[in-house]
Amino acid sequence: MNKLSFILTVTFCVCGSSGKYEPNWKSLDTRPLPKWYDDAKIGIFIHWGVFSVPSFGSEWFWSSWKGKSSEYIDYMKHNYPETFTYQEFAKDFKAEFFDANEWANIFADSGARYIVLTSKHHEGYTLWPSKYSYSWNSLDVGPGRDVIDELSKAVRSHNLTFGLYHSLYEWFNPMYGSDKASNFTKQIFVNNKMIPEMMELINNYQPSVLWSDGDWEAPDTYWKSTEFLAWLYNDSPVKDEIVTNDRWGMGTSCKHGDIYSCKDRYNPGTLQKHKWENAMTIDKQSWGFRRNAKLSDFFTIEELLSELASTISCGGNLLMNVGPTKDGIIAPIFQERLQQMGQWLKINGEAIYGTKPWIVQNDTLTSAVWYTSKDSVFYAISLKWPKDNILSLKSPLKFFRNVKTVVNLLGNEEDGILKWTIDNDAVNIRFPDMAKVKSKWAYVLKIVPN
Ligand SMILES: *[C@@H]1O[C@H](CO)[C@@H](O)[C@H](O)[C@H]1NC(C)=O
Ligand SMILES: *[C@@H]1O[C@H](CO)[C@@H](O)[C@H](O)[C@H]1NC(C)=O
Ligand SMILES: *[C@@H]1O[C@H](CO)[C@@H](O)[C@H](O)[C@H]1NC(C)=O
Repeated sequence: MNKLSFILTVTFCVCGSSGKYEPNWKSLDTRPLPKWYDDAKIGIFIHWGVFSVPSFGSEWFWSSWKGKSSEYIDYMKHNYPETFTYQEFAKDFKAEFFDANEWANIFADSGARYIVLTSKHHEGYTLWPSKYSYSWNSLDVGPGRDVIDELSKAVRSHNLTFGLYHSLYEWFNPMYGSDKASNFTKQIFVNNKMIPEMMELINNYQPSVLWSDGDWEAPDTYWKSTEFLAWLYNDSPVKDEIVTNDRWGMGTSCKHGDIYSCKDRYNPGTLQKHKWENAMTIDKQSWGFRRNAKLSDFFTIEELLSELASTISCGGNLLMNVGPTKDGIIAPIFQERLQQMGQWLKINGEAIYGTKPWIVQNDTLTSAVWYTSKDSVFYAISLKWPKDNILSLKSPLKFFRNVKTVVNLLGNEEDGILKWTIDNDAVNIRFPDMAKVKSKWAYVLKIVPN
């Protein structure tokens, strides 16, 4: 170990005498973020479970129905017998067209570098044959398959990183209910269900992401979050590469954990000090599949690229969600958006993967330009084709004081560097003929100061 890395270790790891993380936030928060995550930039979130059977409203179907939301009560009254239970939906979760390799192909073509699948949502149904979820898992009822085993293998064989979402609470689990009734002074659910199940999940499938959720009703001490994370970071089979988010109990969000997800669809629009993630969904209304979604409910590719550019520019990662159908299909509308993202990244990916935020994030002249950087090179991502083929930028002006600064447009089939001039306190960059540019929807300038 050289001197520098010794200093870094001492500075960053608030560890016990054993050199291990201690079960408290002061120690856990010193863990460095595994490098793969910041380089990857883009992941795909997958919400799939029994809620994909009614595929109405959202993945919160069960809770909304039992919570007496009239829309759900009416839907059930009109379409199902009065005695019908939510559990009866599970036998129709057949997944008969689910082909993990086909999904992995779609994800790989999108340019995403990691995926995060709902191993268990708030309904409690597990997509693996958990021995702690007897008869309420994908082997015992529904597909008759170990979904996580199949998808993890396919995704990894496509050189993508595999991750899992996991809900701490389960709406209607009676053990959880009795703990809650005790104001969380009892921990029957945590000790007998949640912790052993979460360890089984980590040990069996070795995910590189554990995306925690459903934490907010109880304090982190109830969930034993710091004890679990100390095991995860010190002794689990994924201790070196695992990345966790910040949902580990009331008040932990945006404060603790490897990355901050703060709230759903978090995209602050300004540079953040701590690594964060914009978890958003291509269907703006729901994470789970909805049969009655309208075309206008889906992000357009232009809107998605705006999310991508603003997120990466401000130091975040983008986690785009798709909701597969109960039959195991990724609907063509999701496929199209993912494919378009992949087409754009094939041309412009060097402005995204492995980049760092630049000295400013968006240009002060136009809100439609976002910056990223790699070493001394920086990129301007323009969400629009500029008027009269001239893009005026203010923020990078000082880098154009030297006449040798070189500007290229990625995917420009017309040879050569772009011409630029300075006037009115802005640099005016002349774009090529639009017909010569392979990129669609958003355009990236690569700027090499000299
Ligand atoms: C796998 O993906 C990483 C980026 O995540 C890349 O650097 C590497 O070259 C890829 N390997 C193969 C064999 O495609
Ligand atoms: C429940 O516990 C919290 C502390 O965890 C306390 O602040 C609150 O007053 C308790 N509520 C009741 C009804 O006992
Ligand atoms: C862009 O930058 C300006 C300040 O230069 C700021 O006011 C604005 O909110 C930023 N964000 C967006 C999304 O335009």
